[in-house]
Amino acid sequence: MTGLTAEPTPDVRLDRPADKPTRPYFSSGPCAKPPGWALERLPHGSLGRSHRSKLGKSRLKHAIDLTREVLQVPDTHRIGIVPASDTGAVEMAMWSMLGARPATVVAWESFGEGWVTDAVKQLKLDPAVLKAPYGQLPPLGQIDFSHDVVFTWNGTTSGVRVPNGDWIPAAREGLTFADATSAAFAMPLPFEKLDVTTFSFQKVLGGEAAHGLLILGPRAVERLESYKPAWPLPKIFRMTKGGKLIEGIFEGETINTPSMLVIEDYIWALEWAKEAGGLDGLIARSQANAAALDAVVQELDWLDHLVVDPAIRSNTSVCLKFADHVVAGMDEAGTLALVKKLASVLEAEDVAYDIAGHRDAPAGLRIWCGATVDTADIEALGPWLDWAWHSIKA
Ligand SMILES: Cc1ncc(COP(=O)(O)O)c(C=O)c1O
Repeated sequence: MTGLTAEPTPDVRLDRPADKPTRPYFSSGPCAKPPGWALERLPHGSLGRSHRSKLGKSRLKHAIDLTREVLQVPDTHRIGIVPASDTGAVEMAMWSMLGARPATVVAWESFGEGWVTDAVKQLKLDPAVLKAPYGQLPPLGQIDFSHDVVFTWNGTTSGVRVPNGDWIPAAREGLTFADATSAAFAMPLPFEKLDVTTFSFQKVLGGEAAHGLLILGPRAVERLESYKPAWPLPKIFRMTKGGKLIEGIFEGETINTPSMLVIEDYIWALEWAKEAGGLDGLIARSQANAAALDAVVQELDWLDHLVVDPAIRSNTSVCLKFADHVVAGMDEAGTLALVKKLASVLEAEDVAYDIAGHRDAPAGLRIWCGATVDTADIEALGPWLDWAWHSIKA
């Protein structure tokens, strides 16, 4: 012992829970790999080959086809693998399609705020901005759907999601842009109401980061083919040529070189997803995880949900805060110090990795409940949360 260790030492007099989570991976992205995953299980015939070879293209197309099957994307919608993860997919859509009509950007946490910044400061669109504080949803009924509307289906940093798509009219003049990266494969998505949908592989499917998935409905394609933005578009954002959609992008002919290892890993996750019961199975797994975590929260008098209303509470990125009586009189820095201590004690015990909340969110815990997490591991985590808390208090 040097005495210089930064890790707080839990009080060993408290009884340690008997069982640890088998897979202590509760990060909200990159998220836990699917159960049974192992690097050596990935097919690697496409590695070291051109992504434009017959094999490379067929694997990319297979990833698109499996996405359609598992996510239940209708034939009316195109699916493309694009650069730069979810951010790349959202921004190529915003840069390519916004500006044709007024826009509304809806934000209730850090990532939605990022799209507001893009629209206001970068694209200088002067959009209507509808916001809510962490833990709440803005009044969606106030949105004017003659505008293009950009929003986040599940706000990963606050754990607030939209409850469903009922607030989006089937007949609308503007386009809807849904950043669904922490929702896709864990919440039903009404594609007929979503003109643009984006996500990345590393969330609910536990894939590797690198590429974004961009799903375009027919109205988005119509916009792309009929509208040219006033600003220049970098090559990696360009989806049309001579006023026509580049269909190849949606058939596996990526704009630039993809990571075939990432694609093979994504295919593996999709095949696991099929075996796990497809979309319904994935949603059920995530909901069971969120319910198990909720049961833990109900048991512990020092821990509460950040999101009071269960109808808008995420079943993937579940955000928790200390109960009011615990942090009464404590400032944000003190609360954050407590979060860090708790998270580091649990990490040191190898029972929970990466559960401190996002740096932009109110100080608290965030525990991923997506489909690749096993419910038994959430259940096993409960007693450890309490143990760590009482250890720190002692
Ligand atoms: C809602 C949301 N949007 C965008 C992003 C950025 O995603 P990426 O890192 O895949 O670009 C994240 C990442 O967690 C997110 O949760």
